[in-house]
Amino acid sequence: MNNTNVSIPEAHAVTPIDHRTYLIGGKLKSWEGDVASVYSSIRSPQSDGSLAPTLLGTVPDMDEASALAALAAADKAYNKGQGKWPTMKVADRIACMERFVDLMKIEREKVVKLLMWEIGKNLADSEKEFDRTVDYIVDTIDAYKDLDRGSAKFLKDGGVHAHVRRGPLGIVLCLGPYNYPLNETFALLIPAIMMGNTAVFKPAKHGVLLIAPLLEAFQQSFPSGVVNVVFGRGRTIASPIMKTGLVDVLALIGHSSSAISLQDLHPYKNRLRLVLGLEAKNPAIILPDANMDQTVAECISGTLSFNGQRCTALKIVYVHEDVKDEFLNKFSEAVDALQVGMPWDNTLLTPLPEPGKPSYIKELIDDATSKGASVINKRGGEMSDNYCFPAVLYPVNSDMRVYEEEQFGPVIPVISFTDIQEPLNDMSESSYGQQVSLFGKDVSKLAPLIDSLVNLVCRVNLNSSCQRGPDVYPFTGRKNSAVSTLSVHDALRSFSIRTFVASKDNPTNNEILENLMASKKSKFISTDYLL
Ligand code: G3H
Repeated sequence: MNNTNVSIPEAHAVTPIDHRTYLIGGKLKSWEGDVASVYSSIRSPQSDGSLAPTLLGTVPDMDEASALAALAAADKAYNKGQGKWPTMKVADRIACMERFVDLMKIEREKVVKLLMWEIGKNLADSEKEFDRTVDYIVDTIDAYKDLDRGSAKFLKDGGVHAHVRRGPLGIVLCLGPYNYPLNETFALLIPAIMMGNTAVFKPAKHGVLLIAPLLEAFQQSFPSGVVNVVFGRGRTIASPIMKTGLVDVLALIGHSSSAISLQDLHPYKNRLRLVLGLEAKNPAIILPDANMDQTVAECISGTLSFNGQRCTALKIVYVHEDVKDEFLNKFSEAVDALQVGMPWDNTLLTPLPEPGKPSYIKELIDDATSKGASVINKRGGEMSDNYCFPAVLYPVNSDMRVYEEEQFGPVIPVISFTDIQEPLNDMSESSYGQQVSLFGKDVSKLAPLIDSLVNLVCRVNLNSSCQRGPDVYPFTGRKNSAVSTLSVHDALRSFSIRTFVASKDNPTNNEILENLMASKKSKFISTDYLL
C-alpha cells in the first residue's frame, strides 16, 4: 500500500480539522481541554519526502465530568418519563426526525469523505453507508407511523377497554463500531430516540470526525438533552455513566467483552435492557453440487468486502472434500486477482484503519502455518505498514487461533469435510451464532440442513454471502453474537415497552374515555390516524 498512495486526487484531499464542538443539553459547546489526534492509516508525503499516516485533525478527549454532564442532560430531558420528548405526540416527534434527516442529507459529501479517510472504506461503500442510513431513518419514520396507526384504537376484552401503545424505556447509552461508524450507530440511536427515549452517544474509536458535521443537525432538530454527543475514550466516558445506574438501555455494537464490562458496572442489572450486536464467525458451507463460479464470487465478497471487517463477513469456509481442490484453486486465483487501492479507487481491498491489524493478521497466519496449515494463494500474507494481502489458509483445524478468533480482517481459514455433521458440530460448539451461507442445489440435502441451521444461527443465506440488509429483515444472533433484534420494524420494539390505559366498561368510565378522545387533551390517548 505504500507506493500507491503518494498522489491524492484533489477532490479527495483533506485538510486537518480541529474539531472542538460537543453537544450537551441542547447547547453546542466548545471543548477547551485535552484533545486527541485523529490519524488516517492512509499515508501522505511528509516534508522530508517520507510517507506517514495522515493527520486528519483532533477531537475532544473529554473527561468523566463531561460524561456525567451529558448523562444529567439526558436524565433532565427524560425527567422520569415526564419530559417534553417522552410525552410528545407521535406526530411531533416524527416532525423532529424529518427535520433531522433533511439537515443530515446536506452533509453527505463531508461525511463520505471522512468515512474514506478515517476507516479506509471505499468510495462506493462510503456513499452506500450514508445513503443507507438516510433510507433507514426515512423507513423508521414510516414504520413508526404504521405502529402508531395500529395503536390508534381501543380493545375490549373481559369487560375492560384498553388503549395499548409502545412507550419509551428511559435513557440510552449508545456506542457504535468503527466499521460502520455512521450506519450502525444510527441504526441504534435513531429508533431509540424515535420511541421517546433520550440518549448519550459517544462515537466509535475510528470514524469520529465524521460525526462532527451532524452535530448542528441534532441540535436544531430535537429538544434540549434528547441527543447528547460527547467524544473521548470508552473507559473515561462510558464507564462512569454506567456506574450511576441511570442508564436504562445499553445499545452497543461491538465486542461482547466491552458489553460485559459495561453491564458489570451497572448497579441494578435487572433494570438494564440490552440491545447488542456482537462478534460473529459466520461459516460458508459448500456442498458437492454447488455452482462453483457463483460460490467463489459470493465467497469473495463475503470474506473480503471492506477487507473482511464486517460482523457479517464469512470468517470460516467449510468445503466438501469432493470439491475442495476445485474451490481452493478457483478461490485462490480470484483472491490473487483482487486489487488493493485507495478508497477513491473503489477497490475491494483498501488500507486497514487499525494500526495493529496487519501484525495481528500475520500472527494468525504464523500460528496456523506453524500448526500445519499452508497459505494457498500466491500473494497471501504480503505485508505493508497498513495492509496484509488476504491469505487463504488450508487445512485449518480447531487448534489454530484463526479457527476460534473473529479475525475481522483479510485472512480466510478453510476446512474440508466429508460428513456434513462435522461443520454442524463445530457450529453447535461455537461461541457465535449469527448467520451461515449454504451453497448447494439438491433439495433433499438442503432441506434437513436448513432445518438444523436455523436453530444454530439466525439467518441461513442460500447460495449467497451473509449480510445484514435489507434493513427491513431481522438482524440478530444467538450466543455471543447478539442480544435483541434490529431491523427497521424490530428496533422500534427493542427500544420501547408496551404500556396501556385500561378502563372497566361502565357508563362513567366510558364517558371519561369519550371525553378524553374528543378533547385531545392526552397525548397518549389518541385515535387519530397518522397519514
Ligand atoms: O459489521 C456488521 C454489519 O452489520 C454488516 O452489515 O452485512 O450490511 O455489511 P452488512
